[in-house]
Amino acid sequence: MQLRRLGSSGLTVSVVGLGCNNLGRPGTATESQAGTDAVVHAALDAGITLFDVADTYGAEPGLSETRLGAALGAHRDEVVLATKFGMDMRGANGPDFGARGSRRYIATAVEASLRRLGTDHIDLYQFHTPDPLTPIDETLDALDDLVRSGKVRYIGHSNRAGWQIAEAEFVARARGGARFVSSQSHYNLLDRRAELEVLPAAQAYGLGVLPYFPLANGLLTGKYSDGLAPEGSRLTHSRQQMLRDADLDQLRALGDFARQRDLTELQVAFSWLASRPAVSSVIAGATRTEQVQANAEAAGWVPTPDDEAELDEIFPPVPKVALF
Ligand SMILES: NC(=O)c1ccc[n+]([C@@H]2O[C@H](COP(=O)([O-])OP(=O)(O)OC[C@H]3O[C@@H](n4cnc5c(N)ncnc54)[C@H](OP(=O)(O)O)[C@@H]3O)[C@@H](O)[C@H]2O)c1
Repeated sequence: MQLRRLGSSGLTVSVVGLGCNNLGRPGTATESQAGTDAVVHAALDAGITLFDVADTYGAEPGLSETRLGAALGAHRDEVVLATKFGMDMRGANGPDFGARGSRRYIATAVEASLRRLGTDHIDLYQFHTPDPLTPIDETLDALDDLVRSGKVRYIGHSNRAGWQIAEAEFVARARGGARFVSSQSHYNLLDRRAELEVLPAAQAYGLGVLPYFPLANGLLTGKYSDGLAPEGSRLTHSRQQMLRDADLDQLRALGDFARQRDLTELQVAFSWLASRPAVSSVIAGATRTEQVQANAEAAGWVPTPDDEAELDEIFPPVPKVALF
């Protein structure tokens, strides 16, 4: 397993991480603790060190964190444990008044995550989504206190526009405290909007990008390319419209592209992301041990410029709008 620095920080992560939003998810094999244990231990065995969860994930808020903490057990200190705060916890953290980047809220949220994860520190604490009510200055100060207290090692953010990434960077520089070292964004071959603002901003400020939905809910694995959802797969029980709306010719073209190079669709999807500027780790969720094993080995192909150009034909980048 290749290790990479998370942006320009000193934190090192495996190039393939485990996304943990399936842990405790109804209708999956990882809904149970036994199913979670199997997937988490397969990830550890495959050399995966980055485990990405959030306080909201699970059938009820907090369940994914509880499952992950229990599964890691004595392995806690062998991994980089990343979680998030800032999405609606549906009352589980008490009233938040919609200001989930506030000092008041963060103090409560971090204690709840530490308790559920069964640890005394979080390696990467990510601000899940922008809070329109709280100035970023206050959020950064509250997070800096957590870093100084040792409850949190590094901070990151998610779902930010380019200007919000730049704003947070310069506020942190001006205040002299902890700065965000990572940025999570929706990014895969089928959705390349992050290339317009997020990737350039992350690259400019030394943030490591963690693309989420790397497999587009599984569409990029090839298993849906005949237009049918295999028994038990995610698109049989959620987001079914994704399969109805999918461009099957495009998915089949990905299959042809992969086979011409003796690769799988999975390898192309992972490796292409891992080769993009600023990307540190590709975090895919998994519901079975075989998936984790395949994913752990899927980021080793290095696309040539010709390969990239061919993929651009199949999955066109979002056109840059001329502003002037
Ligand atoms: N920051 C944010 O706002 C945000 C938002 C969403 C997600 N995330 C993070 O990003 C992570 C990744 O998102 P995601 O899990 O939804 O990713 P995804 O890549 O879009 O989909 C993962 C799904 O694809 C299927 N799959 C995975 N590996 C496979 C394989 N080798 N062969 C066949 N199918 C495979 C599995 O579904 P089935 O087995 O059920 O078919 C798995 O649950 C999450 O776990 C979470 O940590 C962050």
